[in-house]
Amino acid sequence: MKNCNEISTSHEHSPEKLTQNSQFLHAIIEEVYRCTPLNNFKKNFALVAKSAASHIAVTQELANNTQHSFRKTLSYVNTMIYHTERFSDDQKEAIGKWIHQEFIAFCLLGSWPSRSFSKPQNIAGDHHTIKQIYGGGIQDDRNTGHVVNLCFFNEPACKAVANRKQYMKNYILEKIEHLQQEKYHVTSIASGPAEEIFDVFDSMEKDAYSTLKVTGIDMDKRACASVDDRIQEKKLNAYFSTQAHNVLSLGKYTYLNNTQDLVYSMGLVDYFSDKLVIKILNNIYQMLKPHGEVIIGNFHTNCDSRLFLDYLLDWKLIYRTEQDMCRLFSLSKFGNSPVNIDFEEQGVNMLARCVKQPPTD
Ligand SMILES: C[S@@+](CC[C@H](N)C(=O)[O-])C[C@H]1O[C@@H](n2cnc3c(N)ncnc32)[C@H](O)[C@@H]1O
Repeated sequence: MKNCNEISTSHEHSPEKLTQNSQFLHAIIEEVYRCTPLNNFKKNFALVAKSAASHIAVTQELANNTQHSFRKTLSYVNTMIYHTERFSDDQKEAIGKWIHQEFIAFCLLGSWPSRSFSKPQNIAGDHHTIKQIYGGGIQDDRNTGHVVNLCFFNEPACKAVANRKQYMKNYILEKIEHLQQEKYHVTSIASGPAEEIFDVFDSMEKDAYSTLKVTGIDMDKRACASVDDRIQEKKLNAYFSTQAHNVLSLGKYTYLNNTQDLVYSMGLVDYFSDKLVIKILNNIYQMLKPHGEVIIGNFHTNCDSRLFLDYLLDWKLIYRTEQDMCRLFSLSKFGNSPVNIDFEEQGVNMLARCVKQPPTD
């Protein structure tokens, strides 16, 4: 521990600077209280807590009011930090830290944000955290926890996760409907709970299952085991299996080469640097048949709930633009093949699609 004489006397910690910093933060806090319903959020949540203490069910109206005031407050600060030029990086950090301190106790009352924050498997966005989003929060039957989860699941980032699952399900079903070959081979990389694949099978007639061969690849053995249990339960063994591999090592499994019609990955490359994304794209290129297709999801820089991921839950992602995705594809083995960008309804999750062109003579 430092004694008083050792405490830094750099400009950063000079009394003038500290006063300036604290005046800056006071002005921001005053602005946020004035321009957002933060106060209403606190009043509403106090009523939620009171209902819970009295064993009275929280009304839907109160739950919705709490969620709306939470959303509006976060959206205001999100725009302030990420979409204006008002602040230096240090100032943004100070605002983010204040938001964290303001909401952390609230976060820890919900099963979803508290797990997301504590990261029991040492990674943000492990398969169970993602599965909870798909479950919609009903797993937390405490009054307060339920409302906290509701607030988070209505954040654009969580809605985007649920939407991208729907996007992939529809995409695969559409491909199968127009299938001109015997079997459609699909690999999901970083498959997590692979919920969209179960949804695909649930939407198909049983006698059509044999048209689909799916592989889920995830480096987390627990994620694979949990999906394997469900495969057994649903008797899908002949059509769906998992492999526990690290996506960065896929290049060495040459038996996968030229075997897949579709390889997709949602919620993975946003964790990786450009250099590693290019490596992942090259590994995928190798797995695809000629004319096979890749779809890669990445959160867009426009995301309106980046604040809660960065500062409330310490869930760091690399946000990218359409131009970033096109650049990464062009630097990979996909070269100049056209890249199409779709978005799910929230406009948060970009889905970049590209076809492997057969080699020219
Ligand atoms: C955010 S989840 C996404 C899960 C799924 N794609 C979805 O959208 O529901 C990220 C998943 O990536 C897996 N993962 C992280 N790094 C990986 C790597 N290097 N190789 C394979 N899987 C990885 C994690 O175990 C986790 O299941």
